[in-house]
Amino acid sequence: MATIKEHCCGADLFFNKKTAVKEYKTFLKKGPLKATAKIIEQLEEEDVEGKSLIDVGGGIGALQWWFLKKGGKQTTDIDASSGYLKQAEDHAAKNGWQNQTQFLMGDCTDVYDQIEAVDFITLDKVVCCYPNYKEILNASCDKSLGYVSLSYPMDGVIAQGIKRLGDLFFFLKGNAYRPYVHPVKDIRALFSNNGYERISHNLVFPWHVETYQRVA
Ligand SMILES: C[S@@+](CC[C@H](N)C(=O)[O-])C[C@H]1O[C@@H](n2cnc3c(N)ncnc32)[C@H](O)[C@@H]1O
Repeated sequence: MATIKEHCCGADLFFNKKTAVKEYKTFLKKGPLKATAKIIEQLEEEDVEGKSLIDVGGGIGALQWWFLKKGGKQTTDIDASSGYLKQAEDHAAKNGWQNQTQFLMGDCTDVYDQIEAVDFITLDKVVCCYPNYKEILNASCDKSLGYVSLSYPMDGVIAQGIKRLGDLFFFLKGNAYRPYVHPVKDIRALFSNNGYERISHNLVFPWHVETYQRVA
């Protein structure tokens, strides 16, 4: 298995500026992708006025723009992809959000140490990019004062088969990045063990989209 550093370098190569520009254009035309839109829907009822958000692996930043437009005070985008970060930073500048946004490159489990706890954390299609889901989710539960929302793939035999095809694709490309399918039951138990209660769940095939609230 690749080291986390190799893995993040692989993510940087795969989620490159070209991909970011393409996704950004789609976002401008059609709005957020389905799983992202579902996270927004789950958080729509929550009070984000004056609150802070960390969007881990924020991509082109759709969740961050929604948060700021709804009255959020501050967003932090932590991403292993320099192409996505640059695209998101350009969009923030275009909208005059420079003072309310920050963009940090790296593995969130390293970068969390550099920033304060926040009210909301989102991990939209990120856990499936990370070999050690326990590390990334335990760290996220620690860093959030209120809510953690995430989308992650369904598990099972078919999902494992698709993961293997993904492994082959990245192997043939010579990229250390790999997709991961983690056990759904264990992800849910992890939140419970960290003092979180699930307040929303939807299935947006093939993604589970869930929001957890800190209760302890
Ligand atoms: C599939 S993309 C999802 C982007 C966006 N959230 C969306 O749903 O459109 C996964 C993102 O997670 C980032 N990523 C993967 N592992 C990461 C880590 N450990 N720390 C920070 N970002 C990470 C990748 O660089 C990439 O931008």
